[in-house]
Amino acid sequence: MFGKSNARVTPDAVLAALRNVQEPELHRDLVTLKMVKDIAVQDGEVSFTITLTTPACPLRNVMEQDAHAAVMKLPGVERVVVNFDAQVRADSRIAGKLDIPIKNIIAVASGKGGVGKTTVAVNLAVALAQMGANVGILDADIYGPNVPMMMGVDTMPPVSNGKLTPPLAHGVEVMSIGFLVPEGEALIWRGPMLHGAIRQLLTDVNWGGPSGVAGQGLDYLIVDMPPGTGDAQLTLAQSVPVTAGIIVTMPQAVSLADAMRGLKAFERLEVPVMGIVENMAGEVVGEGGGEAGAMRLGVPFLGRVYLNPAIRRGGDVGEPAVAYQPESEQAVAFRELAQKVAAQVSVLNVRRSATSSAPIKLEMGAS
Ligand SMILES: Nc1ncnc2c1ncn2[C@@H]1O[C@H](COP(=O)(O)OP(=O)(O)OP(=O)(O)O)[C@@H](O)[C@H]1O
Ligand SMILES: [Mg+2]
Repeated sequence: MFGKSNARVTPDAVLAALRNVQEPELHRDLVTLKMVKDIAVQDGEVSFTITLTTPACPLRNVMEQDAHAAVMKLPGVERVVVNFDAQVRADSRIAGKLDIPIKNIIAVASGKGGVGKTTVAVNLAVALAQMGANVGILDADIYGPNVPMMMGVDTMPPVSNGKLTPPLAHGVEVMSIGFLVPEGEALIWRGPMLHGAIRQLLTDVNWGGPSGVAGQGLDYLIVDMPPGTGDAQLTLAQSVPVTAGIIVTMPQAVSLADAMRGLKAFERLEVPVMGIVENMAGEVVGEGGGEAGAMRLGVPFLGRVYLNPAIRRGGDVGEPAVAYQPESEQAVAFRELAQKVAAQVSVLNVRRSATSSAPIKLEMGAS
């Protein structure tokens, strides 16, 4: 080219160029996905904003480079500025069922107790909030409501206008079934009472209210399930469409057999299983079992967290690893998990809006 080109760049030309840029997770172009806005052209400088489907998007840099390169190719363009914002896609089935300001509900479960469900749920929630999402965590474990302790919350939520206001901890709104059930009474609760309580925790809580994350509702509600495959899973799935379920397992075979039961329970309830997390890997119980199990069960492997006493200590005093040891190996693992989960939720919702209401099974490696 001979110096400055005189070709005039138009917003339409920019849009056409961006039709060649794929969203790497969703496998469709940015324009078709309606992710491009605010195109401005001034002399040789082009700027635009890409609206990500989640602030926890793991492939933002790839998109930035691709979009930059595509627009730079246009004759007359000398400089490209790519801005980002995010608008989390909603699971449209939730609004159809309950009038609650929650876009996505993610259940964390396991076949057996003590494998680290609550630890994973708490760190996942805090990591998503750190990345800029509006997040709540709902403790549905009637037999051992540990979320308040692990989040460092010990106050009963205040009631206003007939709704409970969830306390905020580490940027996450916290609500526990333990706030509703008098201590010692959990074991005599029957199905219908549990049903009522879980429904109440969804509908009678001021999720995403003005005193909480932002007054704009929640992007993600993480639900910490009790161990096993019993009433709580059934109740939750009957009360509200669950966007996806995550299964936590330990590496050893017995734990995997339990994970399999958890997975089957979700499938029966038509909750898409997002994948398996392997927790407490290390010298004592080995590692890799979760990954091999995920492969065998045909679901994605979401990540591995090693056994580390710092995780337990943090859990005991309400200091989640991602908030208090942000540079640690475990915090990195939890953040990667959060990005994978957020990306998978986007994939599910975009596919859902494109296809029928038929149940969706996630593919392996779709991350
Ligand atoms: N990766 C880890 N390294 C060390 N300790 C861990 C790890 N993950 C969880 N723990 C600890 O193990 C114990 C059990 O974890 P957690 O309560 O999260 O499991 P759970 O599956 O929710 O249990 P329950 O079935 O009783 O609800 C806790 O003390 C927790 O701090
Ligand atoms: Mg627990």
